[in-house]
Amino acid sequence: MSTVNLEVRIGNLFLKNPLIAAAGTYGPDSFELIPPNLFGAVCTKAVTLNPVQGNKPPRLFEVKGGLINRIGLQNQGVHQFVEEIYPRFSQYHTPVVINVAGFTANEYLKILEILEDKIKDLVIYELNVSCPNVEKGGMAICQHLPSLRRLLTKAREITNKPLWVKLPPQGELIKLLKVSEETLVEAVVIANTYRALTIDKATGEIYTGGLSGPAIKHLTLNLVNQARQLTPLPIVGCGGVSDLEGLMQYLKLGARAVQIGTSLFNNPETPSIIINELDNFLNISNQNSLWDYLNPPGSYKSIINKNKGVGKLQMGTQKIYSGKCIGAQKIKKDKSKN
Ligand SMILES: Cc1cc2nc3c(=O)[nH]c(=O)nc-3n(C[C@H](O)[C@H](O)[C@H](O)COP(=O)(O)O)c2cc1C
Repeated sequence: MSTVNLEVRIGNLFLKNPLIAAAGTYGPDSFELIPPNLFGAVCTKAVTLNPVQGNKPPRLFEVKGGLINRIGLQNQGVHQFVEEIYPRFSQYHTPVVINVAGFTANEYLKILEILEDKIKDLVIYELNVSCPNVEKGGMAICQHLPSLRRLLTKAREITNKPLWVKLPPQGELIKLLKVSEETLVEAVVIANTYRALTIDKATGEIYTGGLSGPAIKHLTLNLVNQARQLTPLPIVGCGGVSDLEGLMQYLKLGARAVQIGTSLFNNPETPSIIINELDNFLNISNQNSLWDYLNPPGSYKSIINKNKGVGKLQMGTQKIYSGKCIGAQKIKKDKSKN
């Protein structure tokens, strides 16, 4: 139990702490070992329109400093997600980030319509336009900016709930950020895995997939730093965090929150260790809150924020706000978002 206020704000949303379980690395099977309430929010694995079997095994390779996965969006499809998987997430009072993936732009929109119709709780949608392990959809949408623009614009029309877009690490960051800004998403997640190659030791076969884990941390930190200078959109960092240092590096570069994935496999205690260490660190530094530590009183950001008076939406109590629009209109008017 934290004694310091670890709350972070992403757009108009408040999360109780900055750590988010990353998509595809966490789910109901892990809840006993890693309880959802350790996190500020938890992402589901990718949800597609129809069930997807994913790639044939082998699909996971341990490499030095990380993992290469070629899962290929395996999941039971949106209908089973709504019936069976979401209820297991929603039992907890931890905000749920639904990772939405399609093989065409229209599929993303159809999934969003179904989720909007069936799930009245306040959830966050994370549009996964960056999966490197599928032939169609995923990262391909980011390679054609008009398609991305159309997808995000239409998605914004379908929902007033928070929309995050999870970007690929490869691609023209500045253009991807511009499109994200124009289409009024609430945050960008930087980034998904890096396309990489490995050779199966047993068979000599070559496999490509997405590289994650500590091996990518410094690459993604660099992207977050670039993005921070290019956009006022809130950034959620994602890549290679395994300890408090990694979390703080992202936050100091301006990320509002940080997702953690591969390190959950290496040591399920990682999230509780990070949160405890963060709490201890702030206590020892005589800080009342993480916000004050990152934005010392009198600093530019601290003053701007104070004067803005942004309405507070407490995601940890999502049921209270179930089914309500949560401020896209307000955000549309609030261009600076910082
Ligand atoms: C086994 C595995 C499955 C993943 N599945 C998804 C997914 O369904 N959707 C998605 O957006 N990202 C997925 N990812 C990427 C992670 O969410 C995250 O972006 C990436 O692993 C980088 O963070 P990390 O270095 O902390 O693991 C997956 C990663 C792994 C290792």
